[in-house]
This record gives sequence, C-alpha cells and structure tokens, in this order.
Amino acid sequence: MKKGSILIKNAAEVVTCSGFHAKQGKEMAELHIVPNGAVVIEEGIIKAVGPTEEVLKQYKEDQYEVIDATDKAVLPGFVDSHTHLVFGGYRAEEFSWRLRGDNYMSIMERGGGILSSVRATKEATKKELLSSAMKRLDSMLSFGVTTVEGKSGYGLDHDTEIKQLEVMQEANKLHPLDVVSTFMGAHAVPKEYKGREDILIDFFLKEVMPEVIERKLAVFCDVFCERNVFSIEESRRLLSKAKEMGFKIKLHADEIVPLGGAELAAELKAVSADHLLQASDTGIKAMAEAGVIATLLPGTAFSLKEDYARARYMIDNNCAVALATDFNPGSCFTESIPLIFALATLYMGITTEEAVTALTINGAAAIDQADSIGSIDIGKKGDVIILEFPSYKYIPYHIGVNTVEKVVKNGILVYNKVKK
Ligand code: NIG
Ligand code: FE
Repeated sequence: MKKGSILIKNAAEVVTCSGFHAKQGKEMAELHIVPNGAVVIEEGIIKAVGPTEEVLKQYKEDQYEVIDATDKAVLPGFVDSHTHLVFGGYRAEEFSWRLRGDNYMSIMERGGGILSSVRATKEATKKELLSSAMKRLDSMLSFGVTTVEGKSGYGLDHDTEIKQLEVMQEANKLHPLDVVSTFMGAHAVPKEYKGREDILIDFFLKEVMPEVIERKLAVFCDVFCERNVFSIEESRRLLSKAKEMGFKIKLHADEIVPLGGAELAAELKAVSADHLLQASDTGIKAMAEAGVIATLLPGTAFSLKEDYARARYMIDNNCAVALATDFNPGSCFTESIPLIFALATLYMGITTEEAVTALTINGAAAIDQADSIGSIDIGKKGDVIILEFPSYKYIPYHIGVNTVEKVVKNGILVYNKVKK
C-alpha cells in the first residue's frame, strides 16, 4: 500500500465544492454534492470522486487504507486564509480592558495592542515561537483546517520579522498542515517611526523584503492600511514595489475607518482585501470587477464589538467572499472554525452553502491556490475532512461545536477524534 493512499466510501454525501478558481456572487451557493459518495486518494493526490458503487468498480479496496464514512459528510479541508499565528506573549489583560470599554485603536496608540505583542515576540526565542506555533497548528487541524496562511508583523525590525518567517517555514516542514507565509512588516508603526512612516517603508523595501524574496520566506506582502497606521498613499507605494519584487499582495483594508482600502485593492489587483467592515459600495463593486477576494473575518468584528462586514451586499454584487479566523493575540484570539460559521450565517446573511464555499475553494483562492486545494477534484491535494454528521448543514447548526471527526491531509489520516 503506497503512502498517502486512502479510499473513503459510503459517505452520506461528498461535498466537492468543485472548481479551480474563486466562486463569485451566485456561484458561491453551488456546492456540487455526491450522495452516497466515495473519494480515492493516491500518494497524496485525489484520483477519483463519485458514487461509491461506481468508484468501487474501478478501485480495489485492498490497495488503500479504507475509511467507511457511513452517515457522515465528507468535505474539502478548510483553508484559513488569514491568521497571525506566530507571536510571543498574550494580551488577556488588554481583553479585560476592552470589556470595560477601552478601545482597540486607543490601546495601540498608547503603545499597547500590536506593539505589546511586538515586544514579546522580540524577546521570544525561535524555539519558543516554534513550539507555540506547532500547538496552535494542532488546534487548527482539529477544526478541519488543512492549509493556513500566517503573517509576520510582530517584529517590525529586520531580525524579528525574519525570525517569525523562519518559524513559519520550519512549522510548514514539521507539521502536517500547510503554512503559507505573508510578510507584514507594515503592521504597526513603532514609536520612533511615528510621522516618518515613509522611512520605515523604505527600510522594509531595501533591508528586509529582498531577503524575504531571495530566501523564499514569504509569498505575500500585506499592510495594515488604516488611519493612524499606514495611509492609502503609503500602502500603495509599499504594495506596488512589493509586486515588482515578486510578492503577491493582500491588504488589511477598511477595518476601522473607511479609507478606500477596497478601491486600492482593486486598483492594485491584490489577491485579497481583508476585514472590509467599512468598505464603500464603490470599493466593493471595484473588487468584484477586478476579481479581488473579499476576505471577511467575523471573529474580529465580534471580538471588537464592531458591525460585521456587509457580506450579503458583497455577494449580491458578485464579489468572491472568503471567510477566515484572523487568529491573533489581540483583536481575535480564536482559531475556532465553528465560531466563524456561526457568526457568518447568523449575523452576516451568509447561507450555509456560501459559508462552506468561503472556507474552502474561496479560501484557497485567497492564497492563490484554487488550482491545487479547496475542493475535492481530481488532481488536487488529498485534503479532506469527515464530519460526525451526515450533512454539511450541521456545521453552523451545531452552534460553536466542532463537528469534525477526521482530517486527511495529503492522503494521510492526521487527526481522528474517534479513539480506537
Ligand atoms: O487583523 N488589524 C490589524 N491586525 C490584526 C490584529 C493584530 C493584533 O491585534 O495583534 C487584525 O485584526
Ligand atoms: Fe489580520
């Protein structure tokens, strides 16, 4: 039996999410379901998907590790396309200040918030950062996540930014989950650079980013485009140069204040613009037109007690929406996929079908990998999850509870809730 070869049979339904590119607008409701389905994975790659009866005529069970998925639904592994998973320290104290009415941006302006994680990350050793990152990846995997994006941005200097990216590269090698890295040096402005943001951007462009590209430490470049952080002009300059250097680009856009981040994302043909709580109608339409993925992070709006992004309006205006956790130590300390499903469906007007698309094929598109992950299609990576229930509809219905029973990554069973 070859490594990474699994045959899953008798699934109540196989939700394929079939497709090789982002699903926009109405397409997001199309899940492509095979009742009584089977999936065959050989050496990590999906070889067949279809009704169990037909698949078993062509593929011999003795060649595979066989999983009987009777009464269970099978879906593609989730893609969490926006996280900040490598950081030192925690900010539980800050959370309790926010509960008493303090506000996220004002904590940051006083030197707390992101800047306090920056201090703790500078102090942490690589070994400590790797060990905490590995535990976080274990937890994400248990929620059915098979690929995760992670950002630097708790360094803001050369050595710490590189250290974070090296930790992600190492974690990607050691952990079954795939980690896709983003350089986000422009995540906050250290005190000594206040009012001299352009100099900080020059520093990243000259002293850090060439090395990041050279050593293949990140695929994406991201920026916190926000009032009192990086302006539209500064973000445009950084990202245009980043693109020339070979980075794909993303933006934290229109999160707290409507600055025009969505419009900028469309202008620069970014792969995704994320947050978008305050995105304008024009910005949303421009993103749909330019094919920029709108990555929505309901956990963050929930945790900051802000209004949710206008998901319904975005989908109705033909955007491709992805959902992600934004897992980070400050604005949203959760890796819970069930929480994201609950918020998206109950509070953002997203249907269950659209939410599944947003966390699978559109999540894959948000990291520019819709051709290789995010759906159960022949030729894609063998990343699938098996639920404890017979339908994907149980995911938001079982509110806030993990319905994932098994996770298969590259054709290998890497998580199993059922103890043998
Ligand atoms: O995506 N908005 C900026 N950055 C992160 C929060 C990071 C933090 O608070 O540590 C976000 O919400
Ligand atoms: Fe973020």
